[in-house]
Amino acid sequence: MASSTQFVITLVALILYQLVIGSYSTTFTIVNNCGYTVWPGILSGAGTEPFSTTGFVLQPGESNALAVPPSWSGRVWGRTLCSQDPTGKFSCITGDCDSSTIECAGRNAIPPATLAEFTLNGSGGLDFFDVSLVDGYNLPILIEPHGETGGGNCTATGCSVDLNAACPMELKVISSNNGGEESVACKSACEAFGDPQYCCSGAYGSPDTCKPSSYSQFFKSACPRAYSYAYDDGTSTFTCASADYTITFCPTPSASSIKSGNGKYPLPATDVSGVRHVDQRVNNVVIAFVLMALVVERLW
Ligand SMILES: *[C@@H]1O[C@H](CO)[C@@H](O)[C@H](O)[C@H]1NC(C)=O
Ligand SMILES: *[C@@H]1O[C@H](CO)[C@@H](O)[C@H](O)[C@H]1NC(C)=O
Repeated sequence: MASSTQFVITLVALILYQLVIGSYSTTFTIVNNCGYTVWPGILSGAGTEPFSTTGFVLQPGESNALAVPPSWSGRVWGRTLCSQDPTGKFSCITGDCDSSTIECAGRNAIPPATLAEFTLNGSGGLDFFDVSLVDGYNLPILIEPHGETGGGNCTATGCSVDLNAACPMELKVISSNNGGEESVACKSACEAFGDPQYCCSGAYGSPDTCKPSSYSQFFKSACPRAYSYAYDDGTSTFTCASADYTITFCPTPSASSIKSGNGKYPLPATDVSGVRHVDQRVNNVVIAFVLMALVVERLW
């Protein structure tokens, strides 16, 4: 009798835990759909709990699902063309975080790098997210929310286009990797010229004075949903209520076929490398049902 009561109490506690705690936890599924290896980097914002990892490797087709600390803010990006020198020092041609190891350990991405930025459970309890080209571009990134409970502009955002070839000559980062020369990243005009007009600094430090430039317009026409300059807020910030997120590098498998940049936002890839995203809340409901079935069976 006593053990049966204990069993029921344990199960009820587990169910409550799943419904109350479990249903609020957020998952990031980071997917590498590129034809090359990507080393994701993660930087947590000041005052938020750190992630379990700050950098790892994803071979083509691989993905990694990570539990996100509550009310997390920070950024996720991809490092490319990484290698280890004979002394064991790790570095990357693009998106490097200057940590000398695969973990970024609190260090930021060195521009140019495409950034996926998040503030979870921000104003009004909403998640705010965007893909930013303000610090330049190194590879295509798409953020897709899943299982959201409504709220705001809850849709996929990102820059699915390969901009490295189309990048204006004066912004191109050329690497003489693998014998030949290739364009591996595209600087922001701010980084390339340091002009306050492009950086939205000094006299240009407000939304009224900092306007799009021909360079920011290059990024905006290729990737209309991504931030192209610092005050590009109106069309670039998206919000969801407690969703999970898939962050995909190279969402469009043949990214090179749209290098010409026709100004259209490609449709989000629906079957990115066959990775199925299992929604956390669906999981919780299934677990809760199984546990309840056990309780009922036991009581009978
Ligand atoms: C969301 O933020 C509010 C206010 O900061 C806090 O009280 C609440 O516990 C947070 N919710 C989660 C799920 O972290
Ligand atoms: C949603 O986004 C569109 C354009 O991106 C914007 O015009 C609109 O104001 C946004 N709506 C909300 C509720 O933020």
